[in-house]
Amino acid sequence: MPKRAAGVSLPFLALDSGEGAPLHHQLYERLRESILSGALAPRSRLPSTRTLSRELGVSRGTVEGAFAQLDAEGFLERRVGSGSVVALPEHARLPRTSPSAPRHRESRPVLSRRGQRLSRDVLPPEPRDVRPFTPCLPALDLFPTRLWSRAVARQARLLGPESMTAGEPAGFRPLREAIAAHLGTARGVRCEWRQVLVLSSTQQALDLSARMLLDEGEGVWLEEPGYLGARAAFESAGARVFPVPVDAEGLRVDVGVSRAAKARLAYVTPSHQYPLGVTLSLPRRLALLEWARSARAWVLEDDYDSEFRYATRPLAAIQGLDVAGRVLYAGTFNKVMFPSLRLAFLVVPDALVEAFTAARAATDGHAPLLHQAAMAHFMEAGHYVAHLRQMRLAYAERRDVLLDALRREVDGGLVPGAAEAGMHVTAFLARGLRDLDIVQRADTKRLGARRLSPLYLGRREEQGLVLGFSGTSPAGLRDAVRALARLL
Ligand SMILES: Cc1ncc(COP(=O)(O)O)c(C=O)c1O
Repeated sequence: MPKRAAGVSLPFLALDSGEGAPLHHQLYERLRESILSGALAPRSRLPSTRTLSRELGVSRGTVEGAFAQLDAEGFLERRVGSGSVVALPEHARLPRTSPSAPRHRESRPVLSRRGQRLSRDVLPPEPRDVRPFTPCLPALDLFPTRLWSRAVARQARLLGPESMTAGEPAGFRPLREAIAAHLGTARGVRCEWRQVLVLSSTQQALDLSARMLLDEGEGVWLEEPGYLGARAAFESAGARVFPVPVDAEGLRVDVGVSRAAKARLAYVTPSHQYPLGVTLSLPRRLALLEWARSARAWVLEDDYDSEFRYATRPLAAIQGLDVAGRVLYAGTFNKVMFPSLRLAFLVVPDALVEAFTAARAATDGHAPLLHQAAMAHFMEAGHYVAHLRQMRLAYAERRDVLLDALRREVDGGLVPGAAEAGMHVTAFLARGLRDLDIVQRADTKRLGARRLSPLYLGRREEQGLVLGFSGTSPAGLRDAVRALARLL
């Protein structure tokens, strides 16, 4: 029976208490799907939480939980006194044709199998606004805007007709040279500039590597818990992902070998594991390289925030230990500079340079030349290293403030894990607390904390929060921890 409530008609909301998923999550999913499919038109008004809870025979908290999450993700606009109105966030405006709910019935699915995999929602929608705990957000308040805009303006002036035609698929040579030199001294990466490909993001490096190196059904080791962006790239390339647990020394290489010795690739974040923050120990690094050499497999090293290590010098990259040419090394400027810059790099073994360059040309041409040239100038002039140094100091202070505030305000309720490096801390929730509930409530306060449990692929999962600290001032962090403590 279609349900009708004051406001729009909601015929699709039959919730099932035997379904397994909590009722607020079922309600959230059904409303979200209806908004995306167009069944609920933008600007239509939903019934109040009170009315809807009565109609559905569930508690008001259940409806409130679903609405809060939809609000946080931009699917609803809630105004005190005037109710909730359907909105369609920017990230969802693309035409969506999910295989499970086709808009037009056709004998063949509209999307290819690859397309279906690619459009699967592995990555949760990210709020666009700056929030106190958003992970991996740089300190935009401390960014040297004047120096950067001077570098961009200078390069724009120098741009002649020949550089306005087309650039090199592998990237602007001075930038490739500057990256190779920096990686050699700062990260122990051993490469020539020819091996450096300039890309727009680590995500592009993952996508390109997955497509170039993996055939359908081939195995990939993924850290457990691990980075959803990597999972999305490998799964959409048709690879079979094997979760490999992480302990205090990083990836359990022995478990990887026993579960999937014949895998073709291992994805690792060895300097600062995402999300747990641990460092891959030297014996494990060597074991990983030995497995890759003997299995003729690849290691994809994602060095996303390795430059920010606070107590000791950053550990050298695995790439520098590799003598068999099995390691691809990915790094990004989007975290050190600013996320919308879209400049990153991938260092590939000699044997792969030509093929990857051709694939880069076939898939995307090249990164925008103006920003590549500005970045090269920024590095050559020493601004990049100076900026890194300043950010290291600022982030160390912010990390200390966060840890101190957690200790004072939520002692025992939330226990921080490894915190020697990086731009976030993962903290574990006390027994009985679920990250879904906490993050839903935190979203209503726009705190930006992320859940830990969805980053596990296997059955065993821990409940916790991923708390970014780099993008927020010390005072802002203290306020945010106080707000979080009230929620807990
Ligand atoms: C492990 C890891 N790798 C890579 C990235 C992102 O890098 P990019 O924006 O260049 O894709 C992130 C950011 O959130 C990350 O957590």
